[in-house]
Amino acid sequence: MKFFIDTGSVQEIREAAELAVLDGVTTNPSLLAKEKGNPFEILKEICNIVPGPVSAEVIATDTAGMLKEAGNLVKIADNIVIKLPTTKEGVKACKVLSSEGVKVNMTLVFSPNQALIVAKAGAAYVSPFIGRLDDISSEGMQLISQVGQIYANYGYETEILVASVRHPMHVVEAALLGADVCTIPAKVLHQMFQHPLTDIGLEKFLSDWKKANG
Ligand code: G3P
Repeated sequence: MKFFIDTGSVQEIREAAELAVLDGVTTNPSLLAKEKGNPFEILKEICNIVPGPVSAEVIATDTAGMLKEAGNLVKIADNIVIKLPTTKEGVKACKVLSSEGVKVNMTLVFSPNQALIVAKAGAAYVSPFIGRLDDISSEGMQLISQVGQIYANYGYETEILVASVRHPMHVVEAALLGADVCTIPAKVLHQMFQHPLTDIGLEKFLSDWKKANG
């Protein structure tokens, strides 16, 4: 499973890139709004740090506006992926961009039908929002399972990108279900490395060594 980091923070991306497990980045307007500076410049810097796919989302809500913005975003770097909302207008833009060879990540997906539609429109990635479904007492991971089954039934190549991840068990469940990608907030990525028995074990190894060898 590929690990993307879900952030607009250049510092978080640099730190994650050093961990040698990072395959890409997802941003969204809310994440970039938290950062100081020009969003285009921030995206450019991110694309220089991470050679893998970097999702950049449009703000327009009509197809023509989305296509215009996408045209500017793709100029930032070769690894930019255009992120579009899963609305009728977004799906139309997805079809156009995908047929031109531009990689599209369809975001704000909350149902199997939306996932089916974006695959038919040629999306490179589908982003079901797991945490936000859990927040409303729905089973986020059930959606991943259903989308996986639907895509397998028809051989759709759209990659399942698990988004709105809130804790390390979401990542485990995504991997158990065979998701292609999980986009992970920095805090959760760092939590994934932690195990108290690793810390205790290391401390014991080092103290035993010190006792024997000084
Ligand atoms: O990038 C989209 C998604 O991961 C947002 O997550 O935590 O705002 O629901 P969240």
